Amino acid sequence: MKKIAIVGFGVVGGGVAEILQRNAKIIEKNAGEAIELGYIVDLRDMPDSPFADKMVKDFAVVENDPTVSIVVEAIGGCGAALQFVRRALTAGKSVVTSNKQLVAEHGLELFRLAKEHGVNFLFEASVGGGIPVLNPMTRCLGANELYEVSGILNGTTNYILSQMLEKGESFDGALKNAQKLGYAEANPAADVEGTDAARKSCILAGLAFGGNVAPDDIHVEGITAVTSVDAAFAEAGGMKIKLLGRALVRDGKKYVFVSPHFMKQEQPLACVGDVFNAILVRGSDVGETMFYGPGAGRYPTASAVLGDVIDIVRNPGREQPTGWEAAEEKPASFDTFKARYYIRTREEKALVQQKLGQITWLPDQQGCSGGVTEPCTRAQLKAVGVALDACWPVFE
Ligand code: HSE
Repeated sequence: MKKIAIVGFGVVGGGVAEILQRNAKIIEKNAGEAIELGYIVDLRDMPDSPFADKMVKDFAVVENDPTVSIVVEAIGGCGAALQFVRRALTAGKSVVTSNKQLVAEHGLELFRLAKEHGVNFLFEASVGGGIPVLNPMTRCLGANELYEVSGILNGTTNYILSQMLEKGESFDGALKNAQKLGYAEANPAADVEGTDAARKSCILAGLAFGGNVAPDDIHVEGITAVTSVDAAFAEAGGMKIKLLGRALVRDGKKYVFVSPHFMKQEQPLACVGDVFNAILVRGSDVGETMFYGPGAGRYPTASAVLGDVIDIVRNPGREQPTGWEAAEEKPASFDTFKARYYIRTREEKALVQQKLGQITWLPDQQGCSGGVTEPCTRAQLKAVGVALDACWPVFE
C-alpha cells in the first residue's frame, strides 16, 4: 500500500481525492497495490468535507511522515506551491502536479532536485488537462525527431471563442460561465491574455526539443483583440479562429509562440470546440498525430494527476524520462515566422495590395476590409507601413 498527500483542496485537489475514493479498485489494479489518501493540506477549515478527517494545516506533518511517498501539489502558482514541492522532493517524496506555471518557470530546478533525491517530479496534467500527451510524446513517440507541437492549449479561451463565435454569447458572459465551470485560472487574465497557453507551449517545447524555453522569451497574444468583425471574416472565408500555442521548426529555426490563428474549417484543429483541447504532433517517422480531449476541469485534470501517481507506484525506483535538458533555448523571433497572414484594415484595398502584394480579399464586414496574404513574415508586413488592425497567421 502506498500513501499519498494532497496539498491544496480546490478544484483539482478535490477531484483527486474523490476519484481516488470512487475508483479505488481500478486504481489498485492498475498500480499493482492500493493507494491510500494520508493527508490533505489546506489552510481553510472544511468541517463538512467528507475528507475532514484527513485535513491538516501544516505541511510539516506530511514532510515528516515517512509513510507518505507521493505528494500531489494542487495549490497552483509559484508561491507556497514551490516551497512545498521543494520540501517534498528534498524529503524524498515524489511529486505530481498540474501546475503549469511551476513547471514552466521552475521545471529545471525541480527535475534536478528530484534526481538528486532519487524520486520523480511528474506533470502530465499541466498540459491539455485530461489528455495524455506528455507521456506519449516522450515515450510512444520517443523514436521520432519531433518537428512541431501545436495546439489548442487553453480550455477557457476555446470555450469563450466557441460561445462567442458560434452561439453569439458575449465575451464577459462566456468568461463568467467558464469560471463557474472551474475552467479558468484564479486570475482569468492568464487565460484570455495567453499566459497560460504560453506556459504550456514552453513545456511542450522543452519536451519536444530538449531546451528550456522561458515564457518571458516568447511572443504571447491572447484573444482579447479578437472581435465580431474577425468572426464575420472567418465565417465568410469558411474558416475558424483558434488560439494556438506552437513549438515548431520552420526554415531551420525553432519557434515558440501563442497567437490567434485563422484556419480552414476542414483542419482537424478547427473542429475542436468548447473546453476541449487538441495537440497536433508532427514527427519524423510517425507523421502527424493529434491528441484530443477535455483541457480543463476538475475530473479530467485529476484523472491525469492520478495517472502519474499510478505510474510512480508501478515503477518504483525508476527515473521517469522527461527529455528536458538544462540548456537554454532562445526561440527565433515571431516577426520572422513565415506564413500566410489574415489581415484586417480600414485602409484602401488598392493601396494595401500595392504595398503588401497579392491579397485574397474576403467580403467586406462592418466597413472593414479583410483578407489573407501570400506567405510572408510579420516583419515584412510591418515594414511597408500599412495600418493593420489585426494580423494573425493562418494555420495550414
Ligand atoms: N485555465 C486552464 C484552461 C486550466 O482553461 O485551460 C487548465 O490548465
